[in-house]
Amino acid sequence: MKKSIYTLLVLLFVVSCQKTVDLDNDKEEFINDLISKMTLAEKAGQMNQYNGFWDATGPMPEGDYQKKRYNELKNGQVGSMLNVIGVDEIRALQKIAVEETRLGIPLIFGHDVIHGYKTIFPIPLAESSSWDLDLMEKSARVAATEASADGLNWTFAPMVDISRDARWGRVMEGAGEDPYLGSLVAKARVHGFQGDNLNDINTIVACAKHFAGYGFSEAGRDYNTTDFNQYTLHNTIMPPFKAAVDAGVRTFMNSFNTLDEIPATGHKHIQRDILKRDWSFDGFIVSDWGSIDQMIPHGFARDGKHAAELAVLAGSDMDMESSLYVSQLVGLVESGNIAEELLNDAVRRILRVKYELGLFEDPYKYCNKERSDSELASEENMSVALDAAKKSIVLLKNNNQLLPLQKEGEKIAIIGPLANDKNSPLGNWRSQAVYNSASSVVEGMKKYKGNRTVFEKGVDLYYGKTNFHNRVKINYDDKSDFGKAKFAAATSDIVVMVLGEEGNQSGEGRSRTNIGLPGLQLELLKEISKINNNIVLVVMSGRPLDLSWEDENIPAIVQAWHLGSKSGDAIAQVLYGDYNPSGKLTMSFPRNVGQVPVYYNFKNTGRPSTSIEQVTNSGYADVENSPLYSFGHGLSYTNFSYSNFSVDSDKLGFDSKINVSVKLENTGFYKGKEVVQLYIRDIVGSIARPMKELKGFKIVELAPGESEIINFEIDSSLLEFYTYNNKWEAEVGKFHVFIGGDSNVTEFKEFYLD
Ligand code: BGC
Repeated sequence: MKKSIYTLLVLLFVVSCQKTVDLDNDKEEFINDLISKMTLAEKAGQMNQYNGFWDATGPMPEGDYQKKRYNELKNGQVGSMLNVIGVDEIRALQKIAVEETRLGIPLIFGHDVIHGYKTIFPIPLAESSSWDLDLMEKSARVAATEASADGLNWTFAPMVDISRDARWGRVMEGAGEDPYLGSLVAKARVHGFQGDNLNDINTIVACAKHFAGYGFSEAGRDYNTTDFNQYTLHNTIMPPFKAAVDAGVRTFMNSFNTLDEIPATGHKHIQRDILKRDWSFDGFIVSDWGSIDQMIPHGFARDGKHAAELAVLAGSDMDMESSLYVSQLVGLVESGNIAEELLNDAVRRILRVKYELGLFEDPYKYCNKERSDSELASEENMSVALDAAKKSIVLLKNNNQLLPLQKEGEKIAIIGPLANDKNSPLGNWRSQAVYNSASSVVEGMKKYKGNRTVFEKGVDLYYGKTNFHNRVKINYDDKSDFGKAKFAAATSDIVVMVLGEEGNQSGEGRSRTNIGLPGLQLELLKEISKINNNIVLVVMSGRPLDLSWEDENIPAIVQAWHLGSKSGDAIAQVLYGDYNPSGKLTMSFPRNVGQVPVYYNFKNTGRPSTSIEQVTNSGYADVENSPLYSFGHGLSYTNFSYSNFSVDSDKLGFDSKINVSVKLENTGFYKGKEVVQLYIRDIVGSIARPMKELKGFKIVELAPGESEIINFEIDSSLLEFYTYNNKWEAEVGKFHVFIGGDSNVTEFKEFYLD
């Protein structure tokens, strides 16, 4: 019976595909037809998502919890599962959905494929520092290819939350602090995951998350309340989400935080009014893990029933792991609290995405063992990971031209607990990476045979084995290896110190109030610097760290993030100059944690401060307002000079364009790439405007002595923002335009929009 209905549906599908070329009509007709056959319980079931709860290829589940879920699965009360890994497991569960439930509707399988699946790429914050959108699209493409080869068809990425607070551990998962760049990155990543056609075998559904404001968690404490006004919402937080919609993203995830004092999951205005109505989004919204249930401790819902009601009314279509839709929705419709049409709308959205994936044609299309055996962590994929890792590295400081290292002659001591760590570089969302599978800095550097290197860890950063679910146990007392490291430093020409955060010290639930080098690492660094200060400090971290002491005392600093599978090779190639670093920060590095949140596109205030000495101005008594390393900062082994900055007219009309140009010249000795950045300041607005906003950039590669004229076109659309009129529009008036190699650029040209 069940099988025959499924066959009938497939037949209907095939026949309708043949009879007309209007695919959208066919899709909607097919879905409406299916919905008309569904019971209320089956509708609630489509809206229910469970985490993998039992080893589906093994024996039948035992235990009440598992048995209950198993029965729900067989009864068509589960629409999606997450964290089920591998073709066999996915096939086994899909078989139950397709062959044993009344209507045989296939499941959609989601997982956090954030920076790679088996081949691990740099964490997204690192990768955004490449500013290379093609590269970001490509790494998402590779991740999608691997995940889909292993049975998955949906990733909970990209995270497009704008973040300004380095205490928040999840900054590692986003593209930093800027909405313009964040929007372009969102588009690139969505397209990378979803490709041109979701029906293709190697594309997966992307998910823009976390909607909205999660990156503004107060005090950088994960899951915390947020407090921002509607202009910040529209001008800073929303643009990357809108860009994701424009790029065709098919799912959204809402967020754990409250905004306007309302939990995002129960926030009707952002989900129904902005996303679904104003932006015409017709995919579906999944809750974040348990976020429907969590409206109870938020103090917004009385109980589970109330929470389910509020979430559906607000437009949350799928319940991740609260079990509340499946347990409450039927009753809520029957009692008249929720209109059945709201369930139909949610189910329609979910079925639409399943249809687009081609799951109704072939529910097992991603379950191909041959593909999963051959397409994961291939050499080709690893070479993309190496390319991404090199391009993500940011050279923060290079006094005395300490870098690049000479390949022959110098004796180098490699010191630091992360130098030989093959696990940390895999980062926080490492999915199916094999434990300890990244290349280490020691391995990378040892490939340069002409060199004389010794390695001493100096100190342990942490104890035991680390993982996603537990806190990293930091070593605060054992200094027993300091001595050996000091000896190595004393007997070497150069010291490369690899210090920073363990891979699981940043990411979800990894907020920190002290964002300096953890454990005893700074103490080790200080001791070593007294013995031999020819130090190249390589910092691995998932967030901007407080590097003030380091900046003052260490001649060369390389920000190497958590770079993924090919971390050590990439770092070695940069240190030895086989790759000239070209990364630029997408998030400001504070001078100390007290400055946080610190970001380049701040407002001037009524009392701008230019020096610490000014008392009644908006500044601190102990540090300057500017960050230690600004947004857009990143050095190269060569030098770039900017000259002949000009604008072809100082008058811009609403229908015209002006051109700004600058001459960029490579005045150094290495071929190198520069990220040329265009900033604009809107001098007077109907609301106070940021001091600078990124409005364009170009990556330019030049040989020594070579120069190029770089042009940017400005039209009024570039000047639009969410104004006091609650409209997205440009306002007439005076503007300043800047072009430079980082957000500190001061030279500007003036123009007027009229
Ligand atoms: C995170 C999401 C993630 C989900 C599923 C949640 O805790 O906030 O970003 O996609 O878990 O793993």
